[in-house]
Amino acid sequence: MGHVHDSPLHEDVSPVSIYRASPADVQRVAACRHPDDGVADERMRAYLEGRHDPHEAEGPRVMLYAVESAVVVGYIAGHRTHRFGFEGELQYLYVHPDRRRQRIATRLITQLAEWFSSEGISRVCVNVASDNSGARDCYAKIGAQEFSTHWMCWENGFMTPGPHG
Ligand SMILES: CC(C)(COP(=O)(O)OP(=O)(O)OC[C@H]1O[C@@H](n2cnc3c(N)ncnc32)[C@H](O)[C@@H]1OP(=O)(O)O)[C@@H](O)C(=O)NCCC(=O)NCCS
Repeated sequence: MGHVHDSPLHEDVSPVSIYRASPADVQRVAACRHPDDGVADERMRAYLEGRHDPHEAEGPRVMLYAVESAVVVGYIAGHRTHRFGFEGELQYLYVHPDRRRQRIATRLITQLAEWFSSEGISRVCVNVASDNSGARDCYAKIGAQEFSTHWMCWENGFMTPGPHG
């Protein structure tokens, strides 16, 4: 188990804490994936370092990861973009299968939303396969709407649990 930063960004009664990843953390974060889910995008470190840009990406970006009992259980990343006229894009999201349906993705998204907000970003898109009903339901529950067959979006910065369901 590698280094964990001293001050978690978010902590509550559950034992899961959220940390901001540095490029040096990416390998350990990526290793949290269950083998059945395949390996993480090999460009993740380059993405975080600004050496790999998704389509229409601009410079600012962040990766966050969730830790439970000193074990990485999930991660998320997002960046500034002008894809489709949006301001932000949720690029990566993953939670280990043993830890799903415990609101870890919701917490990661909420924390990412704070970063977007700090960057003045309120309109955010995410690429999600049309058959990925789990992710679609997760995004919809925190206010995302259908944008096209493979994209959902938050038009008003609503990336927190609320009256959406
Ligand atoms: C999608 C994913 C990130 C969700 O992570 P999670 O931590 O389980 O999500 P949460 O616990 O925060 O879910 C919040 C809500 O979203 C909905 N939801 C999440 N997963 C769901 C599923 N598999 N089926 C139906 N609804 C689901 C539920 O409404 C859930 O609330 P509930 O458990 O009270 O019913 C996780 O399943 C995952 O890593 N999947 C594989 C990678 C992936 O598809 N990433 C997204 C790429 S776009």
